Amino acid sequence: MSTRVLVTGATGFVAGHVIDELLEHGYAVRATVRDLDAADKRAHLVRAAERTGGELEFVAADLGRDAGWAAAVAGCAAVLHVASPFPATPPADEQDLIGPAVEGTLRVLRAAAATGSVRRVVLTSSIAAITHGHDVHDVVRTEADWSVPEKSAAYQKSKTLAERAAWDFVAALPAGERLELVAVNPGMILGPVQSATATSTSHEPVRMLLSRAVPGSPRVGWATVDVRDLAVLHRLAMETPAAAGNRYVAAGAHLWMRDLGRTLATEFGPRGYRVPTRVLPDLLVRAIALFDKTVRLTVPTLGIEELLSSEKAHRELGWTMRPARGSLLDTAESLIQHGIVAAPRGAAAPVPAAATSA
Ligand SMILES: NC(=O)c1ccc[n+]([C@@H]2O[C@H](COP(=O)([O-])OP(=O)(O)OC[C@H]3O[C@@H](n4cnc5c(N)ncnc54)[C@H](OP(=O)(O)O)[C@@H]3O)[C@@H](O)[C@H]2O)c1
Repeated sequence: MSTRVLVTGATGFVAGHVIDELLEHGYAVRATVRDLDAADKRAHLVRAAERTGGELEFVAADLGRDAGWAAAVAGCAAVLHVASPFPATPPADEQDLIGPAVEGTLRVLRAAAATGSVRRVVLTSSIAAITHGHDVHDVVRTEADWSVPEKSAAYQKSKTLAERAAWDFVAALPAGERLELVAVNPGMILGPVQSATATSTSHEPVRMLLSRAVPGSPRVGWATVDVRDLAVLHRLAMETPAAAGNRYVAAGAHLWMRDLGRTLATEFGPRGYRVPTRVLPDLLVRAIALFDKTVRLTVPTLGIEELLSSEKAHRELGWTMRPARGSLLDTAESLIQHGIVAAPRGAAAPVPAAATSA
């Protein structure tokens, strides 16, 4: 009988690839969704199960409610807790992010600890729990670093407080009820979307550049990781006995948005995509930020490089990362194939990708 694993937030970008990876490796997957009626949002996962001949079932559970979590974890050997709100625009009330992130993580952990069958929980944290709120920026951050929540924006705060709460929860469990916890801390996640609905906020820079929704690039950038590599890391974090109790950064070299634009212009320009390649002056970005709260989020990061080391995951888990350029191009290609970026005027529309998994 296959080992059963629970994955939370199945309709999301990362969870879809994690589910694929688990099915490919013979695990039986139970996956949580908020809305069991929205079958279209999980059709790509059903196709993945058919392709691999794997066992996949869906259950309903919301991070904001207790209902459903006990049934979700029942009989599972491990839980990969991926779900967490990741909106492109900050909410009016930061508790809308922090509540589901922190309380939701605790709900999942409480249910897992109560089953007796779950030995390990892998938490999808983020470098948002590592790199924010520091006064010094020119140092390479590692698993030893923590963001300062009091000096971080809502999303970063939600990820930091959720991961802290998870470590505190497992540390406080009685000896006989010990759960193993592993945190995975990815940078900005690129890579192909599996369906038109399974997109993430992290696709926004690529989408905006390809569809010329921005006139150029602010001086911002990110340490990136490919979603397919990240899915492998989730599996390794679940399978490797010695990973218990560890955090693992998953982020490569910093990429400036300007360089994303230049690569996309080179590759997609000949196909009619008018990708902007100019750099927007900081002064202009600060001016726009006065009335646009999404742009306002970028202001504290102007000119700052995200410097991180993933050496620990390479060394301890044998994990490897593919080059960022291919990951970027695969992201862009998938946004076009799934109709998230429209074909340029006069160009033939792409063949719909609905029947493919990536
Ligand atoms: N993408 C990145 O660059 C990045 C980087 C670092 C870490 N992460 C982390 O990776 C994880 C997945 O992110 P993603 O990029 O895949 O984002 P995503 O596509 O937006 O997926 C988020 C998932 O969380 C679910 N969710 C949100 N609020 C929920 C709630 N109250 N109850 C139950 N489910 C809820 C969503 O369900 P619905 O479909 O029902 O909304 C969705 O399935 C998150 O923990 C995120 O913080 C992402």
